[in-house]
Amino acid sequence: MAHDTVLAQAQAFARLKAHTDLIGPVYGTEDWSMFLYALAKMQTPQSVVELGTGLGATALWVAQAMKEVGGGRIWTIDSGQDWAGILGHSPDLFTPAQRNMDFAAYMADVIADFGLRGHLEFIGRTMPPYPELGQKLDWLFSDFRHGPNDILEILGHFLPRMADSSSIFIDSASTSFPSYAMLELLAAQLNAGKVPAMLLRTTAPDQHEALWQQVRCSRYTLMHMVERKARVQNSTAWLKIEPADLRPYPAAPFH
Ligand SMILES: C[S@@+](CC[C@H](N)C(=O)[O-])C[C@H]1O[C@@H](n2cnc3c(N)ncnc32)[C@H](O)[C@@H]1O
Repeated sequence: MAHDTVLAQAQAFARLKAHTDLIGPVYGTEDWSMFLYALAKMQTPQSVVELGTGLGATALWVAQAMKEVGGGRIWTIDSGQDWAGILGHSPDLFTPAQRNMDFAAYMADVIADFGLRGHLEFIGRTMPPYPELGQKLDWLFSDFRHGPNDILEILGHFLPRMADSSSIFIDSASTSFPSYAMLELLAAQLNAGKVPAMLLRTTAPDQHEALWQQVRCSRYTLMHMVERKARVQNSTAWLKIEPADLRPYPAAPFH
């Protein structure tokens, strides 16, 4: 890579780091977003959905990684319901112009400011219903509800829509015992080739066959990523889906 390109990328990185160090603590995603940035640079996901934009920290970093590797798109969805409250308690996080914007305009402003229009799309709406992007997803990051029933609804919708090799990240689930225990039971049953009835009930009938097909042909790895920090909701459950095979995915040549 040319020296000028490396320098320009480093400057963009530093500016985004300053921005998310400022706004990230509102939802505690200043470090998580950089973890996903690094993972996106390594795995180059092409299609990513985020449920719950917050102030955009994670979506911006994933989009920055996509820009650097030259491909990929993240759709981030949020009702904007927290925006007025955040403006009320933390106006200093925003420019005077941003303080007069609605949430959609704020997101458009930030996306344009960081030059990420080509990789990041904000969708302003309340969920459910959950979006149907018409393509298989490489990553799903769910960051707005984490009770066991919420997770089952989200998985019922998205599992059949995940790519053969893909990842689902569920914020806060690992440090809530009911959600943690449900995910552990679920992963064990999926790996035994079974689809629990409670999951099937949250899956639209026209997606049942896709779900069964995935369970027949996949293995699931559940990892609990917990922060050693004195704050609540300090975890993410990572459900990795891979083809049942004799090699790890994303596939790379063996050495
Ligand atoms: C924890 S924040 C997301 C943080 C974000 N992922 C980040 O990287 O910083 C949760 C977001 O979910 C949104 N939200 C909550 N309930 C929602 C709903 N029913 N539909 C759409 N968005 C919702 C809130 O407005 C809030 O911005």
